[in-house]
Amino acid sequence: MRPLVFAANWKMHVGPRSAVRYMARFLDVVPARAGRTLWFFPPAASLAAVAQAAAGREDVQAGAQNVHWEPKGAFTGEMSAGIAAEAGAHGALVGHSERRHVFGETDAETGRKVRALLDAGLRPMLCVGELLEEREAGDTEAVCLRQLDAGLADVRPDELGSVLLAYEPVWAIGTGRNATPGDAAAVHRALRAALKDRGAEAPRILYGGSVNAGNVLALLAEAELDGVLVGGASLDADAWAGLVGAEPVEAERPAR
Ligand code: PGA
Repeated sequence: MRPLVFAANWKMHVGPRSAVRYMARFLDVVPARAGRTLWFFPPAASLAAVAQAAAGREDVQAGAQNVHWEPKGAFTGEMSAGIAAEAGAHGALVGHSERRHVFGETDAETGRKVRALLDAGLRPMLCVGELLEEREAGDTEAVCLRQLDAGLADVRPDELGSVLLAYEPVWAIGTGRNATPGDAAAVHRALRAALKDRGAEAPRILYGGSVNAGNVLALLAEAELDGVLVGGASLDADAWAGLVGAEPVEAERPAR
């Protein structure tokens, strides 16, 4: 089976006690599988609990949902990449659409956060995606490529192997609407080409936005998709266990 990444973004759900119960159940029913990496992005307060539960499972990684770009200082309410690492994180989401569109995070700020994560030895999962009006105006690729360029502005080619990318059309997040597998693959192709132009050898690009047990196989049948980033459908341990167990039909990989 081709390598796949299944990432759970719990958003503002699952506190530390619930996280302990969730992980015990999930890890009990989901054995490690070659080529499959499972990421969990819990709220900050649950990060250490998830990381501790995942210790000893190399296929399971914990990540923060957000970090600040400064390494330390008077930034009440914020968490640095170093603090996330100390809590057991292996990486963090950067530029999730809710950070961009609910909290006003700018393209330039995402670039600083990506840099801070790499400096702390963590893996950024940079999220890009267009608004509905941007899609309707035919600007999907331009928006995603602009966000990619800003997010990677300070990243050297030899560091690109540490970066994961997630394409999440904003209009598909939490709405029950998702891009068709073909639409997603087209954007992934453009992003992959841009990453290769920057010197990435084997870019990993996840798709996110209303992914669930009913559509994950059709999405992953697209060889352009290296995995999925999932919110709502990852909140129940048994449901998420079922989703990550789905075996996509082996898709022919295009030459990359
Ligand atoms: P959703 O969220 O699966 O609930 O649409 C995805 C995300 O925001 O990462």
